[in-house]
Amino acid sequence: MTSEYGLKGKNIVVTGAAGGLGSSIVDSFASFGANILLTDIQGKEKALNNISKKNIKKHGIKSHVLSLDISNRRDVEKNLEISLRSFSKKIDCLVNCAAIYHKNFWDPIGNKNIEDWENIININLFGTLNVIRQILPKMIKQKSGNIISISSDSGIDTIPGESAYGISKASIIKLMEYLARENPKSGIRFNSIAPGYIDTPLLRSLIKTKKIEKEAINTIPVNRFAKPQDIADVVLFLASNKSKYINGECIVANGGRY
Ligand SMILES: NC(=O)c1ccc[n+]([C@@H]2O[C@H](COP(=O)([O-])OP(=O)(O)OC[C@H]3O[C@@H](n4cnc5c(N)ncnc54)[C@H](O)[C@@H]3O)[C@@H](O)[C@H]2O)c1
Repeated sequence: MTSEYGLKGKNIVVTGAAGGLGSSIVDSFASFGANILLTDIQGKEKALNNISKKNIKKHGIKSHVLSLDISNRRDVEKNLEISLRSFSKKIDCLVNCAAIYHKNFWDPIGNKNIEDWENIININLFGTLNVIRQILPKMIKQKSGNIISISSDSGIDTIPGESAYGISKASIIKLMEYLARENPKSGIRFNSIAPGYIDTPLLRSLIKTKKIEKEAINTIPVNRFAKPQDIADVVLFLASNKSKYINGECIVANGGRY
């Protein structure tokens, strides 16, 4: 199984690595022997260090951590660069997982606080773009690489109340398509994943009662929320040679939710 994915010794960068899904993605790569640079926003140092230390001990991999606000372009250009240099000369895969959600769900567009909108677009779209723009030139130079961005099925559906998030996530799908078209014959693949509900602390902060949970699960034909591992498995597939002919694509992993 380990050699099947071909990830042993590969160098992976994961943003949002302290989060519910991000930490599961890190654990999954580590279990296949990949080295990981974990990044998340300032204030998540303890969680990042714990995840990193655990995987070094358990899997003997190389793991670095970096506190970084991806929406701060100057910080990304300076500090991500410094960290990448000490992590590895070659970066095989970048997984963009960092994102935020609405503070006030169900606020229609007309009522929306423009600062909330700005914040969501700045982090989810421009933050992702900042990180990609830092790493892509290296991948172009090395003539290989793989960029995977976590979108959402909210970027495909149109769900009243989550306009800025939905638009930011739709833009991620399009961003990966553009990157694939703009970089032909580069040896780099660009794909996104659109999960539905994933059972993470983020989801639990929104689904506050058993009644809401039941209503939400009723819309999913597989009859449960995704576990973070369900989505991490799709990331592993896209990061591996098993998906070598998939490029510029968005894989919807939402249990058939409608
Ligand atoms: N949980 C769900 O139901 C669900 C569904 C579809 C898609 N997603 C997507 O999956 C990804 C992970 O979500 P999650 O549920 O694990 O949420 P999460 O909040 O646990 O993880 C997101 C991580 O991003 C980090 N982050 C936020 N702003 C940042 C910034 N400016 N700079 C750097 N890091 C920052 C957070 O600190 C956090 O660790 C997100 O892209 C989210 O949009 C989640």
